[in-house]
Amino acid sequence: MYRDRIRHGGLRDKIITAEEAASFIRDGMTVGMSGFTRAGEAKAVPMALAARAQTDPLQITLLTGASLGNDLDKTLAEAHVLKRRMPFQSDPGLRKSINAGEVMFVDQHLSQTVEMLRTHQLPPVDIAIVEAAAITEEGGIVPTTSVGNSASFAILAPKVIVEINLTQPLLLEGIHDIYIPTRRPHRDPIPVVAPHSRAGLPYIPIPPEKIAGIVITEKLDSSARISPPDDGTRAIAGHLIDLLHHEVKQGRMGTDLRPLQAGIGSVANAVLHGLISSPFHDLTMYSEVLQDSTFDLFDSGKLLFASGSSITLSREKHDEVIANIGAYKPKLLLRPQEISNHPEVVRRLGVLCINTALEFDIYGNVNSTHVGGTQMMNGIGGSGDFARNGFLSIFVTKSIAKEGKVSSVVPMVSHVDHTEHDVGILITEQGLADLRGLAPRERAKLIIENCAHPDYRDRLADYYERAVSRGGHTPHVIEEALSWHRALAETGTMQSGAD
Ligand code: COA
Repeated sequence: MYRDRIRHGGLRDKIITAEEAASFIRDGMTVGMSGFTRAGEAKAVPMALAARAQTDPLQITLLTGASLGNDLDKTLAEAHVLKRRMPFQSDPGLRKSINAGEVMFVDQHLSQTVEMLRTHQLPPVDIAIVEAAAITEEGGIVPTTSVGNSASFAILAPKVIVEINLTQPLLLEGIHDIYIPTRRPHRDPIPVVAPHSRAGLPYIPIPPEKIAGIVITEKLDSSARISPPDDGTRAIAGHLIDLLHHEVKQGRMGTDLRPLQAGIGSVANAVLHGLISSPFHDLTMYSEVLQDSTFDLFDSGKLLFASGSSITLSREKHDEVIANIGAYKPKLLLRPQEISNHPEVVRRLGVLCINTALEFDIYGNVNSTHVGGTQMMNGIGGSGDFARNGFLSIFVTKSIAKEGKVSSVVPMVSHVDHTEHDVGILITEQGLADLRGLAPRERAKLIIENCAHPDYRDRLADYYERAVSRGGHTPHVIEEALSWHRALAETGTMQSGAD
């Protein structure tokens, strides 16, 4: 049984049920689990753990690559299994528990988690649970649609549970490149000099005796929650393409641009779609999540190669990609998120970084995580890893949210994820502000004129004028700077009576 999936003969008698595997997890443990943006997560064992918690309550610290699919974060939160969760999530149910203070969520740059584990700056992982397409003759674990933090979890944990997922095609083998940086302080440079660079092994190397159990599953990855492009996101894409034309004209890049990174979500996905009808070609990606748009760009002949840490697709795209995985395989590489997001590599390659803001302020500070300054949305994810280190740091968002009740351009952001120092270009459907080389006073004028929605533009200009009359390098009417957010909290809109 499963000879092609469990090729190490000695491991075939390690097959156990998900319930048996879940029984290895005890109250207070730290669990490192595969899963990155709803792709490649362990599926059966966490479900069995949530079921067990109904009669045998327990709480764990759960570390993953990023968000989990199959409602796992919701199910685990509802079963009160999560004491602490890091480094990213995107589930409405878990979000509720985090914002109620029931789950301690550590929102972290995605490249940093395993570096901190390796150097004992976080409690050690007691057990790793990793979804795999196969186990090799040597006992190496072949991940599925994501690598995330799985390799380091499995290498660092004393005990590993492998979930072999029969729905994940064996053809995925060879798509992964598992490279773990050498120890500091005498670390070798990471040998990734192009998106297609291979630096490591096609499987996670661990001693087979660490594998405590193998669970067989057949559950699919969840599909991505992405809305299709609309007028707003198409306009944002149009402004981005204009910018890229300008960059090429200035001789800063060729028509193959620079390796592209695009963040999660509908806006970034739509923006990448915009490149399909652009004149740019021979493109490459050095990104974190590969969404539908990556495969549409492959199909259009525009994209030559894509490196990421996970593949997160809509259901239709998933079926299409899996059916043709053999054809896509030579153009794809999945790396540990520590490498896909590594500042050293992002800076070396000169990545063109496109991430999404919830809101930004008139000086270019960006909030990507906290609605109204207090309510966690998803987390910073990899946006900071890329924004600070890329060739060009672009943030996109629609100029208004919630049917216009919220302006995404505000006097002062209510939470800062990306400081003005890490932000090069801001784009809304209204237009683009190129902040490079500009002082705060110059930035403010451009952002208000080019990016703000007409319904809010005059009030922002008025705020700025009154702020300037008080002086300062970054002028503010400090007692009024968050009044738009106060109005939103008190009245449900920023539209009137805010200032
Ligand atoms: N205030 C309140 N809510 C806002 C808002 C604002 N200023 N701007 C957007 N929203 C709401 C939208 O109304 C929408 O709400 P809904 O889910 O109830 O419909 C939600 O935020 C998502 O916005 P949307 O416009 O659909 O954008 P998106 O799907 O592209 O997501 C982020 C935007 C910022 C939430 C998402 O990109 C994110 O989590 N980013 C941080 C992580 C990251 O950048 N990772 C990048 C590396 S992969």
